[in-house]
Amino acid sequence: MNKNIKQDYQKKIDELKKHNKFYYENSSPEISDKEYDKLKRQILNLEKEHAYLKSNFSPSKIVGFKPSKNFAKYKHKEKMLSLSNAFDEEDLFNFEKKIFNFLNEKVDLNYSVEPKIDGISASLTYKNGVLIYGVSRGDGTEGEIITENLKTIKDIPHKITNINFPKDIEIRGEVYINKDDFQKIKASFANPRNAASGSLRQKNPKETSKIPLKFIAYTFGFMSENKFKNQSDFLKELKSWGFLTSEYNEVIKSVNGLVNFHQQFEKKRFDLKYDIDGLVYKVNNIQLQRRLGFTSNSPRWAIAHKFSADHAYSEILNIDIQVGRTGALTPVAKVKSVNIGGVVVSNATLHNEDEILRKDIRIGDTVKIERAGDVIPHVLEVDLKKRRKKSKKFIFPKKCPCGFDTIKEFNKLTKKYDAVRRCPDRGFDCEKIAVEKIKHFISKDAINIDGLGKKVVEKFWDLQFIKFPQDIYHLNYQKISSLDGWGSQSASNLKYSIESSKEVTLEKFIFSLGIRHIGMENAKIIADFTKTMKNFFNLAKKNNINELINIDGIGETQIKSLEKFFQNKINIKVVEKLSEILKIKDWEINKEGKLKNKSFMFTGKLQNISRAEAKSLIEENSGSIVSSVTKKLDYLVIGEKPTAKKVESAKKIGVKILKQQEWSKLLD
Ligand code: IVH
Repeated sequence: MNKNIKQDYQKKIDELKKHNKFYYENSSPEISDKEYDKLKRQILNLEKEHAYLKSNFSPSKIVGFKPSKNFAKYKHKEKMLSLSNAFDEEDLFNFEKKIFNFLNEKVDLNYSVEPKIDGISASLTYKNGVLIYGVSRGDGTEGEIITENLKTIKDIPHKITNINFPKDIEIRGEVYINKDDFQKIKASFANPRNAASGSLRQKNPKETSKIPLKFIAYTFGFMSENKFKNQSDFLKELKSWGFLTSEYNEVIKSVNGLVNFHQQFEKKRFDLKYDIDGLVYKVNNIQLQRRLGFTSNSPRWAIAHKFSADHAYSEILNIDIQVGRTGALTPVAKVKSVNIGGVVVSNATLHNEDEILRKDIRIGDTVKIERAGDVIPHVLEVDLKKRRKKSKKFIFPKKCPCGFDTIKEFNKLTKKYDAVRRCPDRGFDCEKIAVEKIKHFISKDAINIDGLGKKVVEKFWDLQFIKFPQDIYHLNYQKISSLDGWGSQSASNLKYSIESSKEVTLEKFIFSLGIRHIGMENAKIIADFTKTMKNFFNLAKKNNINELINIDGIGETQIKSLEKFFQNKINIKVVEKLSEILKIKDWEINKEGKLKNKSFMFTGKLQNISRAEAKSLIEENSGSIVSSVTKKLDYLVIGEKPTAKKVESAKKIGVKILKQQEWSKLLD
């Protein structure tokens, strides 16, 4: 290894780091783009000539230099999550009930009610009143830096001098186009939302400025000083700082109040200047929002109440059977293309075998199809007047398209057979399930391979390029570049995204395996328990899985499913191969919290706090929850009327017992 070369390389990397900071953080580059590119090229050339040169800050590694994208990436300080949906009054009562359960008290709730604008969300970071980053939502964790494009929108202030404006704040809102303005440009775009999204991703901000984009602000990501008591106060403040906010924002008490408002608003939705697809309800009190926190996908303190869907009638041309990742057979109606509320629909789900029977849906029938927002369109009912005389009942196939016999599982809880027919989970043995498993493997919340979409997976599957997830890492790019629609550039972009997806966290890896009943929440729980890939793999050994039964959140269903997964030799092989190829990082979320490495168990009723909130407090502080008294337990926390047996066994094996007040003190 040549010392001078190494020094020269390091010097160049340091220089690049410095200029990145000037460019991205201070928005004031010190060198020209040309000089900057030259520096990058020199580093890349040095790496090519001397394979031992490596740095995490190399332009080949750091985000923003991906050849497939025009924009630099930006990791959101606070994730940009989505909202769960409510469609009726019952959903809203359930939403509120969950809040009361979580808080363990029935508080008076006020809601900040805001129209759900159908646009593209964007995040704006201001430091000392100056807009320094404008970022797209991306996958919620990482977005693209589109500052210059966002700056072309007149509603977005570049500088704010108001003395109340926080020193460090990220403001979020929706970029959209007014319906009238869309009329002038509709020849080039499918709908206003597409137009907004397309214009934000223009390479040249001048192109963006040609589209009449608007921005309405509605929330914050982080804020250096938070003096707002309510979301509605924050909205008022946004306005005083110079942001555009919706003129329809309201504060409403009680679910009944929300339902009334929704009914009235739905009537006037089409008179609004912009498209909206529902209303957003947010718990108004920000302190309560903090307590409620988030699930992995959405806040517990907010919900989107959708407007009723659009309908249309069309004819069923055929019924396809699709097989999902867990083996469920879903019938899908192929219908004559029909426009439903601005979107062309040619597929509509029929849900399952029982639904077809119940609604007596037949090929050739004219059916009513419903489409609500981004949910998959579904068949509501048959127009029997239009039924043809000779039409025959649809016989649901008893075999999976892969050839295996299908089953209907018996549900012990409901004591009924499932409505869903499935190909018993034979993993990669069923080729229909196998493709779906690979699609799941590459998906955003899993390994997240940018540039390898579901369609490409299907194509590579048909061409037999991939049969198992590990095959993705041994693709023949020469062959790919000669495929129709591909070239050497796109093949090398794909190679780049695949290579850069190799580093993955343990929870994402567990989730990516697509084990039935192991979604992201459970994957996290298992990662928290196993900590390393090695321990996770050890679960495959007989009896080890049963250890999981002590963890809160994991039940018999999950254990059975994991057992089944590890009994399958192909699955073991896939995990083995992937663990060789991927760099799977140990579990390390919140490693440094106050309750680091400490495990807790509760018994008895807690005062003023629900079990769920207590659990999430422990997890936020890096502790973990177990559900049985063993030597591994550090603290047994007792509330009112604790189970005597648990307290006794804790005393016996020397587990420390804490009263609720003592536990609260631990947490400060
Ligand atoms: S609040 C964590 N408020 O809806 C909650 N979102 O499904 C953050 N949206 O990605 C969002 N109007 O693009 C919020 N008044 C509003 C909104 C709104 C539209 C969009 C936004 C978000 C999506 C969530």
